[in-house]
Amino acid sequence: MATASSTYSSLSPQRLLGKVALVTGGATGIGESIARLFCRHGAKVCIADLQDNLGQNVCESLGGEPKTCYIHCDVTIEDDVRQAVDFTVDKFGTLDIMVNNAGLGGPPCPDIRKAALSDFEKVFDVNVKGVFLGMKHAARIMIPLNKGSIVSLCSVASAIGGLGPHAYTGSKHAVLGLTRSVAAELGKHGIRVNCVSPYGVATSLAVAHLPEDERTEDALTGFRSFIGRNANLQGVELTVDDVANAVLFLASDEARYISGDNLMLDGGFTCTNHSLHVFR
Ligand SMILES: NC(=O)c1ccc[n+]([C@@H]2O[C@H](COP(=O)([O-])OP(=O)(O)OC[C@H]3O[C@@H](n4cnc5c(N)ncnc54)[C@H](O)[C@@H]3O)[C@@H](O)[C@H]2O)c1
Repeated sequence: MATASSTYSSLSPQRLLGKVALVTGGATGIGESIARLFCRHGAKVCIADLQDNLGQNVCESLGGEPKTCYIHCDVTIEDDVRQAVDFTVDKFGTLDIMVNNAGLGGPPCPDIRKAALSDFEKVFDVNVKGVFLGMKHAARIMIPLNKGSIVSLCSVASAIGGLGPHAYTGSKHAVLGLTRSVAAELGKHGIRVNCVSPYGVATSLAVAHLPEDERTEDALTGFRSFIGRNANLQGVELTVDDVANAVLFLASDEARYISGDNLMLDGGFTCTNHSLHVFR
């Protein structure tokens, strides 16, 4: 069994040296930043996404094989997820880190009476079924090895309501539930299972949810200003790279005793409430 001192001495500027990771939804947004950061830290990374051109471009810009590879994968289809995991193992020899990042926001819908069940199901399919399948097939490889780290993208919408459509909020509460449940099963195999919960980050998923009366000609600028104004932590903008850094920490051996956790990346947003104007 590794001791604390042996772990400290093995820490390196390349915090994932020798590790193999699979990142779903890695063609753009937060997933792309995770793939880039993991590569910079010495990991071999397979990107799985629906957007083949974008995914392949990210791969090529990272030097292509043998460091990175791309596979088309719809996380809602079990065969696709099985194949993505097997492809990663075939290319790079093993799977140490599974990042379940692919996600959908779903269309904004402020009136539950007008909510389409098909929209609800689509969001749950990607955000919940996709994460479950990622956990299941990663566990298939990791259990015999008695090690591994599974990190899923959750959200501040896993902690409180009112931050997104019902399906999105429900799905992110479910990701947290799955994280805790699978951490409970896989602990005996030495496998850690965690999730990270960011506040708003300017990506295509989030910008689509800017309230209509906050929209400006430049959607991105409007989003940043709206999210910044409503943040608890002022003067700091949450970026895709901040999220990637948190995922890197949970994926790495520095987090060797952390499992079942929901790491909040929200500058205190979900544990403070300024509506009574005590401090503002
Ligand atoms: N951006 C935010 O403000 C924010 C906040 C909290 C949590 N998150 C979560 O972070 C994750 C990434 O979000 P993002 O903001 O980078 O979004 P994004 O839309 O920029 O990227 C999502 C990626 O997932 C891929 N994807 C979608 N459906 C897929 C499927 N069925 N199979 C495979 N890939 C699929 C897309 O092609 C895309 O590359 C999501 O789980 C999201 O819920 C985002």
